[in-house]
Amino acid sequence: MSQSSSLHVAIVMDGNGRWAGRRGLPRVAGHRAGAEAVRRIVEAAPGLGIGALTLYAFSADNWKRAPGEVAALMRLFARYVRAEVPRLLEGGVRLEVVGRRDRLPVPLVTAIAAAESATAGGVRLVLRLALDYSSRWAIGAGVRLPDVDLLVRTGGEQRLSDFLLWESAYAELYFVETMWPDFGAADLAAAVAAFHARERRFGGLPEAAAG
Ligand code: IPE
Ligand code: IPE
Ligand code: MG
Repeated sequence: MSQSSSLHVAIVMDGNGRWAGRRGLPRVAGHRAGAEAVRRIVEAAPGLGIGALTLYAFSADNWKRAPGEVAALMRLFARYVRAEVPRLLEGGVRLEVVGRRDRLPVPLVTAIAAAESATAGGVRLVLRLALDYSSRWAIGAGVRLPDVDLLVRTGGEQRLSDFLLWESAYAELYFVETMWPDFGAADLAAAVAAFHARERRFGGLPEAAAG
């Protein structure tokens, strides 16, 4: 049985600020480097059997950060969404943005709508960017995404931070110390390999004991 293109991988892309701090750079430089990591990961995903990739880019709680950092992130998202369209089309990637839109800056909302419609025909990979996302809010609003197979968090913290609580009910969890800007195709491959080495039981019995 082929499982290619069926994996739903979700990633909490954490560690941009610390990555920058260690280099004596402003936090925003970490976010810029993080956007480049996104590009590499999106490119590598289909070859690893990933059919859907959901990336946590901005949480509903991230509005608590300094206005300058928030504004820079919003500009970065708009730039990413506009600049990536040709590459997404080339790679057969369909972009969807999940989360609230009513609090995002208008130019970003416009860029999102344009990118979503331009890439709507992509069938190789569904790339979901979670922006102003809160899982508790989504559950309350009745918004559901597909179940997550593998949930990865970079940056060393071992928590979900209000990401895909419902959808990760049986997700395999994978935490790495690597800061997001340093996360590359080989790291994603290692995460997927670890996933395949796990035994998922969904409350049933191991294969060997069943039957
Ligand atoms: C993740 O990196 C990106 C966002 C939350 C927008 P952080 O900005 O949280 O980086 P750290 O955790 O401070 O290193
Ligand atoms: C989670 O990272 C949100 C994103 C990666 C977008 P945070 O850095 O905001 O999470 P906490 O504050 O460490 O839980
Ligand atoms: Mg963080």
